[in-house]
Amino acid sequence: MSYQGHRKRRIEGTTLVIFGASGDLTSRKIIPAIASLWDQDQLPEEFSVIGVARSPLGTDGFRNLVMNSAGGWETVGNYIENFHYLQGDYKSISTYQSLSKLLDTIEQSHQTGRSRLYYLATIPDLFGLISDLLGESGLSRHGDSNSARIIIEKPFGDDTLSAQKLNSDMHRSFSEDQIYRIDHYLGKETVQNLLALRFSNAIFEPVWNRNYVDNIQITVAEQIGVGHRGNFYEHAGALKDIIQNHMLQILSLILMEAPATMAADSIQNEKVKVLSSVEIPSIPEVVSRVVRGQYVDGVINSDEVRGYRGEQNVSPDSKTETFVAMRLAVDNWRWAGVPVFIRTGKRMAKRETQVVMEFNRAPHLPFTGNSARQLGPNRMILRIQPEEEIKLVFGAKVPGQDYNIRSVAMDFSYANTFREVSWDAYERLILDALLGDRTLFLRADEVTKAWEIVEPVQRAFADPDFPLFPYASGTYGPKEASKLLQGSGHYWHNG
Ligand code: BG6
Repeated sequence: MSYQGHRKRRIEGTTLVIFGASGDLTSRKIIPAIASLWDQDQLPEEFSVIGVARSPLGTDGFRNLVMNSAGGWETVGNYIENFHYLQGDYKSISTYQSLSKLLDTIEQSHQTGRSRLYYLATIPDLFGLISDLLGESGLSRHGDSNSARIIIEKPFGDDTLSAQKLNSDMHRSFSEDQIYRIDHYLGKETVQNLLALRFSNAIFEPVWNRNYVDNIQITVAEQIGVGHRGNFYEHAGALKDIIQNHMLQILSLILMEAPATMAADSIQNEKVKVLSSVEIPSIPEVVSRVVRGQYVDGVINSDEVRGYRGEQNVSPDSKTETFVAMRLAVDNWRWAGVPVFIRTGKRMAKRETQVVMEFNRAPHLPFTGNSARQLGPNRMILRIQPEEEIKLVFGAKVPGQDYNIRSVAMDFSYANTFREVSWDAYERLILDALLGDRTLFLRADEVTKAWEIVEPVQRAFADPDFPLFPYASGTYGPKEASKLLQGSGHYWHNG
């Protein structure tokens, strides 16, 4: 299992059915991940893929698409016969009847076995419908309960209510343990390492609480803008796109209690517990705890870039946020009183996903004069990307006759320590879904808990008078985001 060391289990013969086979997610992520798994000998001979979409691609067309996405004949040439295509309307039961026949034929001719994995790489509006029609055509319960599984990927609804509805829509045909909800951050090696760091070492746990930690900062900063995804982003915004999922997942792994075992339910129980302890502000409280921003023209890596409102498919008077900073409180024994600051933004100064645990200052500094003026607080920095590292910042004496103390860092870098190549998140997640390991996927209640946390913020943002602060592209967001911390005497740790 993912958190339990090396994989020893082999995957049984399976057919992967990709709905949305001609779309972006399939060619950018799913096909390259499959090709790489094949290349690493992780998939059995008896493995087939059926692409389903509305486009009249035909099997040859789909195989060409597969080769282009996977990097050519050398990568997938030997397996190309294992890729099939079915053209069909997702809304029509006849598509599913044809799929059922095609599955039977392939399972016989490729001796694929009876295991089926459906990957809904479509727009989220179709998740409930496709799941229902799979159910109606008898494709959701195939043999024992584990032999038919379904993958969906965020966004899971738009708010608490629609997320609950999606869960119950899916549950009409699939039981919870057949559903694999992807948040690709959980597939990242360094996100998984958060648990290894916390629960395989004895030295961190004693200080991982309100007695030693002054505040916690989580940053997901991107340099990219919205690019060609303006249409999507206008309806998403940073709150739904990053905070509700990726950031609250990181937060729960950092703050949760030790799980009883590393099994999926055990970990998910602890994550749900900590999400349930996050204080939910009232709508009027949001304005003093949340800052929202939108990028304007600026400079990134010496290139001038345009502001959000000038991006393709974005309204010239859009109020969609591309930056959000929040102050959260977690009301439980371990974290009561420790502020948790989170922020995310596009077009920021650097690409940087990290957690900073800032520890209390030493109670008394016996050094005289200015000798410790360059000393910052002790910090542990867990850098998730781009350079994956763990850094401990502490004070040390600067060599020389004077007694000057300065902050220095002790570094562990993934790339310099391990020779093994990190797996891409999709490779890991697809493999885990094939193995039936749900540890790195989201459970229904995790998703709704996370929506409950952001919902008052969503509502506050819907008020046209809620402030939207501009920030220049290439910066760390609007200055109001710093003020959010200054009130309690804190400041953001960048870089
Ligand atoms: C996606 C968001 O979920 O995550 C994107 O929709 C964002 O807007 C992306 O750019 C970031 O992922 P990563 O792996 O590049 O940090």
